[in-house]
Amino acid sequence: MPVITEPAPLAALRRQDPELAEVILAETARQADSLQLIAAENFTSPAVLAALGSPLANKYAEGYPGARHHGGCELVDVAERIAIDRAKALFGAEHVNVQAHSGSSAVLAAYAVLLRPGDTVLAMGLPSGGHLTHGAPGNFSGRWFDFVAYGVDPESGLIDYDEVHAAARAHRPKAIVCGSISYPRHIDYAAFRAIADDVGAHLIADAAHPIGLVAGGAAPNPVPYADIVCATTHKVLRGPRGGMLLCGAELADRVDRAVFPFTQGGAQMHTIAAKAVAFGEAATPAFNGYAHQVVANARVLAATLAAQGFAVTTGGTDTHLVLADPAPLGVLGQVARGRLASAGLVLDTCALPHGEGRGLRLGTAALTTQGMGEAQTARVAVLLSGVVRGDLDPRAAREEVRELAGEFPPYPAG
Ligand SMILES: Cc1ncc(COP(=O)(O)O)c(C=O)c1O
Repeated sequence: MPVITEPAPLAALRRQDPELAEVILAETARQADSLQLIAAENFTSPAVLAALGSPLANKYAEGYPGARHHGGCELVDVAERIAIDRAKALFGAEHVNVQAHSGSSAVLAAYAVLLRPGDTVLAMGLPSGGHLTHGAPGNFSGRWFDFVAYGVDPESGLIDYDEVHAAARAHRPKAIVCGSISYPRHIDYAAFRAIADDVGAHLIADAAHPIGLVAGGAAPNPVPYADIVCATTHKVLRGPRGGMLLCGAELADRVDRAVFPFTQGGAQMHTIAAKAVAFGEAATPAFNGYAHQVVANARVLAATLAAQGFAVTTGGTDTHLVLADPAPLGVLGQVARGRLASAGLVLDTCALPHGEGRGLRLGTAALTTQGMGEAQTARVAVLLSGVVRGDLDPRAAREEVRELAGEFPPYPAG
């Protein structure tokens, strides 16, 4: 059983509200005692957690640094300016808005800047890996805009840029969205820009997933190509749960007004301070090494799963993401996920581009933060395959998972 260090503020919570403290501690233990393969998750640093749990959470701060609707904002203004300046330097952006509460809020704000209700938008279809904000019927995007979808090549699983171009010419969208929840390859932002220019469309890059790899120099940067880049701060980037928007100087005011007051109220200053901490961490050589190791681990994960009989979409990965179909092993994705959960291997399933069943969506960001390299990742892939195939008893696998997790605690003592 790994040693679980109790975060310091929890001691106070435990005295006042033992019931809730118990839940937080149990969740902390669950995270340390199992392996987190959910591609959208990571472990933030203790410094990020400290900022999140700081008294900045108390402060109301509607508006922007130097122009707030509330008094007493001088110091949170400093925190927000630090976050903005660090993000601008990290991504080479002329303007960054760090107030978006989440990735979805960032996309909503980008649409508010560039679109009007009823406009046509071309985005990756949900079955191919588009996000809910890319036109799902139950999301504001599907209700307020007329989305048309591009897919991926059913054989290769790759974006077919000629197909995107043909769809853009046929539908003349007001904006094109590039970005996905499960596409494991680099996106050719220059190709999307050329297509958008050809049809007079805006280009929105939803880089929620790869933005951390961009920060670490392990993936191409959409900032020079897109009118607006939307992103999250909590995936590979390893910051607090939140969003941001990056754009050129000419859209700066409109982006800021689309976040506040159009779609949001008071900024969450503790989260913004935590974003600043994460941007500072992401600017270090250590983070560059981390981002490249995330990709190296994902490549090993993809290759090992393929060797074990999974159908790996696109044949591999360029990123932290691997999409693997267990169908060739005679197991449905949902069934595989259940078996893996009982072995302490936590992941999710998602739609497969060829349209049948669900695949396992895996990511290496959290394992890599724990310090695991290629050897450990290959071991995880072999364990996972054995459990999915049914050769390995999930209880035996659970013990191995526990042992491995114990060797690489996400929050080592001291
Ligand atoms: C491509 C993409 N866009 C937007 C989001 C939304 O982020 P959030 O869950 O923070 O709203 C996600 C989240 O996974 C995503 O993958």
